[in-house]
Amino acid sequence: MKRPYTALITGANAGIGLALAGKLLGQGYRVIGTSRTGYIDALSHPQLYCLQLDVRDAASIEACKQAITRMATSIDLLVNNAGVADDVFHTVPERASFENTFSTNVTGLVFFTEAVVGLVPPGGQIVNISTDMALLTEVAMNGPAYRMSKGAVNIYTKMLAQRLTEKKITVTAIHPGWVRTKLGGDQAPLLPEASAAGILDIIQTQKNSGEFRNVATGKHFAL
Ligand SMILES: NC(=O)c1ccc[n+]([C@@H]2O[C@H](COP(=O)([O-])OP(=O)(O)OC[C@H]3O[C@@H](n4cnc5c(N)ncnc54)[C@H](OP(=O)(O)O)[C@@H]3O)[C@@H](O)[C@H]2O)c1
Repeated sequence: MKRPYTALITGANAGIGLALAGKLLGQGYRVIGTSRTGYIDALSHPQLYCLQLDVRDAASIEACKQAITRMATSIDLLVNNAGVADDVFHTVPERASFENTFSTNVTGLVFFTEAVVGLVPPGGQIVNISTDMALLTEVAMNGPAYRMSKGAVNIYTKMLAQRLTEKKITVTAIHPGWVRTKLGGDQAPLLPEASAAGILDIIQTQKNSGEFRNVATGKHFAL
């Protein structure tokens, strides 16, 4: 891969995605960050480019892909970070939560990845931001749509890792810790910058494709 490396992060306007964009820019990456508004107000850098993307919308995915191909010939690192957790305080499945959560966390993630995966070169990486709440050993009653959607993300991570083995592209699911963001809430112990530092460390050291990595505990295992 030629320097500067290009990273593509979905949901880079806030929380973990924003903090990770800052870390990658600090490491010399060129960062293409997406947001639903088309702006990233909290960060300004000559190597930061922002594109509009709503992962629930197929036309938005296609327009974003076209814009990416106009500005980059390859994406060395794709971070599928955009996500919602509408029902973490609920135990009974609700249709509206399921529809929004699955169209964002699953259908959106999968079809955005499929739109841009052809731009990821051999040696490139795909990171799917998941959660330990989706592990079968951690399942509890709350957040049915959220847990099940991220379980699907873990399965897609493993399937994509298998598909991309010959191309030598590494695919990893990462639990970022419990992080103080809009999604994680005010009580979360980890600041976005600390979580992003852990994600960056995994990106820079990850060797095995198809793994689940936990930023908070350092534990990792094959999916
Ligand atoms: N915080 C935690 O404790 C925690 C724990 C485990 C996993 N995670 C995962 O970490 C990721 C980032 O979450 P966060 O904590 O940083 O939350 P956050 O601050 O709420 O950020 C979520 C990001 O996703 C974007 N997004 C939501 N729906 C979207 C859509 N339809 N299309 C495109 N972008 C969309 C948001 O954009 P808007 O600003 O426009 O809404 C925002 O940029 C998520 O996948 C989440 O599940 C977080």
